[in-house]
Amino acid sequence: MQDDGIVIHNEADLENMRAACRLAASVLEFIDEYVVEGVTTIELSELCNEFIISHGATSATLGYNGFPGAVCTSVNDVICHGIPGSYRLKSGDIINIDVTVNLDGWHGDTSKTFLVGQCTKLATTLVEVAERALYVGISAAKPYGYFGDIGKAIQKYVDCCGFSIVRNYCGHGIGRKMHDEPMVIHHDDHDLGPQILPGMFFTIEPMINVGSHRTKVMKDGWTVATIDKSLSAQFEHTIAALETSVEIMTRSSKHNVTKLV
Ligand code: MF3
Ligand code: CO
Ligand code: CO
Repeated sequence: MQDDGIVIHNEADLENMRAACRLAASVLEFIDEYVVEGVTTIELSELCNEFIISHGATSATLGYNGFPGAVCTSVNDVICHGIPGSYRLKSGDIINIDVTVNLDGWHGDTSKTFLVGQCTKLATTLVEVAERALYVGISAAKPYGYFGDIGKAIQKYVDCCGFSIVRNYCGHGIGRKMHDEPMVIHHDDHDLGPQILPGMFFTIEPMINVGSHRTKVMKDGWTVATIDKSLSAQFEHTIAALETSVEIMTRSSKHNVTKLV
């Protein structure tokens, strides 16, 4: 570990993380066909949990500081940390499913926002922008560059589209812990931040709102929503910094490639 608390991992750690991240990615592939009108968010969470357990892992969110879900399910104006429950998806909803698995003590963390039935042009555009924002952030993340490069690039992209970036929640270092140093900031805070070094594992997970970037926590103590009830979308990958490139460890197995710098 460095002085700033950021863990530098070795080759064996990388292999363990690849396995955890591959499983997390496969949970999102598995759940895709169930994300339809009429399903409840608790049903989606239970399906994910069974899949995770049947692959020899556990959900890292279930019981985390008391969080009651095997995944987070964040619908429409919910930004993140939505608790699975009796809500039934309807046509026009957008829902982020955020999966964190623990496989042999290693964490894979990934999320995506699904469109349910017929969505408005605005919702569809928001989801596209949120996904692109993730990839813009990943492209800016380079070994021997800086974590600050990520937020700078995302901000430049999202500003062009007229949407806002959530500031109160960020990406994070990951590995043996689900949440570790450093904080990965998704907006431009005019700070370089720590250097990105080979062996670092971290997430990039920008949350993009149609309206204000401001957030509120609901009475359940978990659900984070937009202050103005505008829609919010998010995509997340777990990334490893290698010597000359970064690897998207939670990329779906259908196109699992290493991005060259
Ligand atoms: N997976 C979330 C993240 O991206 C963390 C969820 S913690 C929970 O960091 F307790 F809300 F589940
Ligand atoms: Co995360
Ligand atoms: Co997550």
